[in-house]
Amino acid sequence: MDEVLATGHTFSSMSQRDRALARAIAGTVLRRCGQVDAVLDLYLAHPLPQKTGLMRGILRCATAEILFLRSPAFAIVNEAVSQAASKGKTRAFRHLANAVLRKVATEGLDKLKDLPPSLNIPDWLQTSWKTAYGDQVIEDAASVLIADQPTDITVFGNAKSWAEKLNGHVLGGQSARIQAKDRQSGDVTKWPGFEEGAWQVQDAAASLPVALLAPKPGEHIADLCAAPGGKTAQLADAGAKVVAVDRAQNRLQRLEQNMKRLGLDVQSVCGDVMQWQSETPLDAILLDAPCSATGVFRRHPDVLALKSEEQVCELASMQFSLLAAATQNLRPGGRLVYCVCSAQVEEGEQIAARALAELPLEAASINLETLPFGQEFVSGHALRIAPGAWADKGGLDAFYMASFTRKG
Ligand SMILES: C[S@@+](CC[C@H](N)C(=O)[O-])C[C@H]1O[C@@H](n2cnc3c(N)ncnc32)[C@H](O)[C@@H]1O
Repeated sequence: MDEVLATGHTFSSMSQRDRALARAIAGTVLRRCGQVDAVLDLYLAHPLPQKTGLMRGILRCATAEILFLRSPAFAIVNEAVSQAASKGKTRAFRHLANAVLRKVATEGLDKLKDLPPSLNIPDWLQTSWKTAYGDQVIEDAASVLIADQPTDITVFGNAKSWAEKLNGHVLGGQSARIQAKDRQSGDVTKWPGFEEGAWQVQDAAASLPVALLAPKPGEHIADLCAAPGGKTAQLADAGAKVVAVDRAQNRLQRLEQNMKRLGLDVQSVCGDVMQWQSETPLDAILLDAPCSATGVFRRHPDVLALKSEEQVCELASMQFSLLAAATQNLRPGGRLVYCVCSAQVEEGEQIAARALAELPLEAASINLETLPFGQEFVSGHALRIAPGAWADKGGLDAFYMASFTRKG
């Protein structure tokens, strides 16, 4: 959604106020899709036929506005009907839109009482998450999905002082959290300290893989799959000599811009981790593998609509290959942290188990003192944050990270 909104011509030509509303509508549809569809299905006598263009989209947006953004219903129904009338494929459904949305406006809120937020988590994820984490996980995940999202930052310098300046609080170590109600504006680039590189936006969970790796000054460390560089910055800030590898040129450019803003010195390499070879064996490696990203569903709710079980299987085989390739660059005794922002065990626990069986890696014990927070998520040589974690504190992205050392 962020990419579409950043590059879409219609969106960029709107006023700032309209853009904020469009973003709120799209975000609400993505966060509440299950509930929105369930309400609509109550009033659609027959499912919409296949080739109705944007018809379901128009109905979903209008329903989300009526039920959750509480905009004046008559204006929204009129707008939706004229949107339907303006396009060839949807024109035939304008009367249907009128009838259905009038029902939504008069009865929808009442019906919603019997439609729990868990409907917003797709069935395949509910099955997979219940199996992995137990039944309670769905309620927790559903509640963080529809909550206001806090902004987390990683501070380079005095975390307490920056947290106070930004109306936030320190979570532990260099991570601070600013609750949505305490934010100064939606545009973080205008917040004090952004321009001068005092901090970066980074979910608290995403800061933990580097804490697990425990980089030391002067160590040669590769950050593999590094862009846009959230973890690279943490490694460089700890004084390590960092090489950041990513195959996406445009994302690597963002990494370079970010390092410039933060005043950090990093070698960046555009290349494929499957082929990349370090000039000398490395002290440590961080591999933040590409994944289904189901763990970041609360900050990027579009993953709920975009990702599928089939993709998870394909990704898992690629993740193992990347881990095998990365291991070759490590010196004997060197450390490696493998991490994914996925809630799927196929991309986390199962990859780590396979690595222990098939690669020259052994499980490294986790020093709880090097973890600034999150000790409750540690299990053996890994740390697993399940969906819906910290539901009472504003949530935390679901992550898996495992710690290894290379056999001699
Ligand atoms: C999860 S994101 C990395 C986020 C980053 N580590 C951070 O903390 O800001 C995954 C990255 O892997 C990169 N990638 C995917 N496959 C790759 C490959 N075979 N070689 C190098 N980079 C790859 C993508 O371009 C993407 O930038």
